[in-house]
Amino acid sequence: MNTQIAARSATTAAIVVCTPLDFGHLAMTIHRLRPLGEAQAQVSNCTTTGLRTQLAPPATRHYPHLHMNQDLWTSVDRFLTDTLIHPDQALDEAMRANRDAGLPAIDVAPNQGKLLHLVARIHKAKRILEVGTLGGYSTIWLARALPPDGKLVTLELNPTHAQVAAANINRAGLSSLVDIRVGPALESLASLHEEHAFPFDLIFLDADKPNNPVYLEWAIKLSRPGTVIIGDNVIRDGAILDPNSTDPVVSGTRTFVERLGTHPRLDATALQTVGSRGYDGFAIAIVNE
Ligand code: SAH
Ligand code: DHB
Ligand code: MG
Repeated sequence: MNTQIAARSATTAAIVVCTPLDFGHLAMTIHRLRPLGEAQAQVSNCTTTGLRTQLAPPATRHYPHLHMNQDLWTSVDRFLTDTLIHPDQALDEAMRANRDAGLPAIDVAPNQGKLLHLVARIHKAKRILEVGTLGGYSTIWLARALPPDGKLVTLELNPTHAQVAAANINRAGLSSLVDIRVGPALESLASLHEEHAFPFDLIFLDADKPNNPVYLEWAIKLSRPGTVIIGDNVIRDGAILDPNSTDPVVSGTRTFVERLGTHPRLDATALQTVGSRGYDGFAIAIVNE
């Protein structure tokens, strides 16, 4: 059964058709709306991935008031994006292609993508590994931080996602820098290790969250002292607080963060974020000697 939710903010107006448990997707849908006057309404069926439907229920059950400030967060993100992030044809076209292909709107937000880009540049990363490509939005941000002789390897399970990403990356003129490997990331990570295709300077973990503790082990294996590891979506509406959760997304994320804290070779922190992608967070770690 669908519920109609009308969402309004200073710059957007939307009518979103959404199942109650998919309320988190409202944020993402609002973000994609054009300014008032250009588009008054947009309809979304709030297509979900398995991951999102696993993520949403515990948060909405435990913290039903959470999305109270979503309009504000979205408006502030819009201001920051308009102010700090210049219009960009390749990124805009990628978002449009992702939407047209029916990909879930779970890419990083523009200001998050630029954060990844800045970290890669600050770190002078020449070799980047990404786990979870989707349509290549974060891939484009990261690959643009590379020098001409740099390399980014991105791992994607879903062949359709990989295909859309390849076209987006090609349109961005980055094909020569980016290697998309299709298949379960656990297999691709093992292959990269076998091929001695490491170390990577920066590793971005953004695929299936239950596997994040295992991805972390692989990331360390594929690292060097000084490698930066970033994990997306470590807060998910605060669901991470529940130590007894039977949701593998929540328990996987908790274990991931706990291991970041206890691993003898890592120094790590995590930040809660709010914005167009809701209430979530990044973890960041550096690999020591
Ligand atoms: N980093 C992207 C978003 C990634 S969304 C961006 O910000 O633009 C997560 C992606 O991980 C999805 O495309 C999903 O298909 C992929 N994924 C899920 N399970 C996976 C697995 N086992 N191996 C590789 N990719 C996986
Ligand atoms: C989901 C996955 C992500 O990587 C993300 O950034 C946001 C949402 C999800 O599956 O719901
Ligand atoms: Mg993510």
